Amino acid sequence: METRIFENTREGIKSAATLIRSGETVIFPTETVYGLGANALDSLAVKKIFTAKGRPSDNPLIVHIADFSEAEEFVENIPHTAKLLAEKFCPGPITMILKKKACIPAEVSAGLDTVGIRIPENKIARDFLKECGVPVAAPSANISGRPSPTNFEHVFEDMNGRVAGIIKGENSRVGVESTVIDLTSDIPTVLRPGGISVEELSEVLGDVLVSSELKDDGIPKAPGMKYKHYSPKGQTFILKGNVTDVAGFLEKRSKVNSVSVLVFDEFIEYMPKGINVISLGGKDDPKSAANRLFDALRECDALGVREIYAPEIPEQGLWRAVKNRLYKAAAARIIDAKSAKSVLFVCTGNTCRSAMAEGIFNISHKNAVAISAGLFVNQSSAEENAVKAAAELGTDIKNHIPRQLTPELIENSDIVLTMTDSHKKSLVGFENVITISGFVGEEKDVKDPYGGDMEVYRSCAREIKELIEKIKL
Ligand code: TXA
Ligand code: MG
Repeated sequence: METRIFENTREGIKSAATLIRSGETVIFPTETVYGLGANALDSLAVKKIFTAKGRPSDNPLIVHIADFSEAEEFVENIPHTAKLLAEKFCPGPITMILKKKACIPAEVSAGLDTVGIRIPENKIARDFLKECGVPVAAPSANISGRPSPTNFEHVFEDMNGRVAGIIKGENSRVGVESTVIDLTSDIPTVLRPGGISVEELSEVLGDVLVSSELKDDGIPKAPGMKYKHYSPKGQTFILKGNVTDVAGFLEKRSKVNSVSVLVFDEFIEYMPKGINVISLGGKDDPKSAANRLFDALRECDALGVREIYAPEIPEQGLWRAVKNRLYKAAAARIIDAKSAKSVLFVCTGNTCRSAMAEGIFNISHKNAVAISAGLFVNQSSAEENAVKAAAELGTDIKNHIPRQLTPELIENSDIVLTMTDSHKKSLVGFENVITISGFVGEEKDVKDPYGGDMEVYRSCAREIKELIEKIKL
């Protein structure tokens, strides 16, 4: 599909709005992140959003309108709490979940009886919504699973050719998405922290709950929360500790892997050479951190770094939104710079066994980072069956790049775990090398599944998983 680019002119906005009214998709800037819009009253148009993003259809969309007074067309009996919030924060980075009217199609609400209503504050967004004359359903304009786009370049990178139009605007001011607050429950409940803080909401509403993401029955309250989000291609970790320990740990990691660190300005000068350092702004400036976060994660992807470290983030004000996004990117893996162990798995070609071991280890061990390498590497990706077998155990190794083992990798790892005794025997002279089974007090080789069928890979992955679960560091 050809994507038309519209400038922020009267003509541009008019043409973009015409596309929306004719059932097409248009991306527009907002103060939080760019949104991928379609007419919210047109099921067919809304379906195009899901296709363009590659988004699961059971994740509902937010409906954007130009003015709160329009909400009553789409929402049953607007509660007093919504009026209070609208008065104080609209237009602005907040989405209110309210009981929907029948005119909002099930495609928008993903079958729920509620709908998210948002009135963006960005001038272009408001002009565009007024011109559309229809409510505009819009998720963030990224490909599903990528960081949300906060500038035109990010949007273009993900979406050129996938939507009918893009309105070119300035960089998003806030940089993280709107706060989603459910006003249909007895006590207003924040489902997603965002541009308006919980403290600000409490000032207006009194009691406000913060969703613990999942209800007891395991069904997410905001359906979007169950999906893996904002995940950069590199392994991402929250690294805690004082600046000396952090610098020491990163220095060590830089000798075995390509590393990016997201860091507050006050600590930049202490970071070791040879790693990519990305500023999050000052340590007392959550606005900068929010504003730079998604850009930083995209930079890591563009550089292709394989390990990304981010600092611990406080749990108050706008920080809460930053923390939520970063901890999701890191799948909540928090490691301690002083005590975290560096583990290296070794097999023959680094396409099956050690690659699966790396992936399985990194989702199951709390205070360690694993990489893997092979004695004779001659391929450029993991075996397809290994990727599938690892995925069945909950870890994604499709971006794995086999790596040739070197003495430097061994010397800069705390523990080197080989798959077989013969691998170990070929690494004489290193004291930190042991077979994975030997390390847990057993004696067997993990046999090479190469060339075997899926069942062979599956059982190899399970065998590795069982051994990894017994590893005590
Ligand atoms: O700032 C923002 O909110 C941006 C801009 C474009 O407005 N939009 C955005 O949309 O972030 P999206 O689709 O990426 O995230 C919307 C979140 C999802 O987690 C979704 O599950 C939740 O809001 N949500 C939407 N409607 C809901 C509903 N009826 N009930 C509960 N959660 C809902
Ligand atoms: Mg999103």
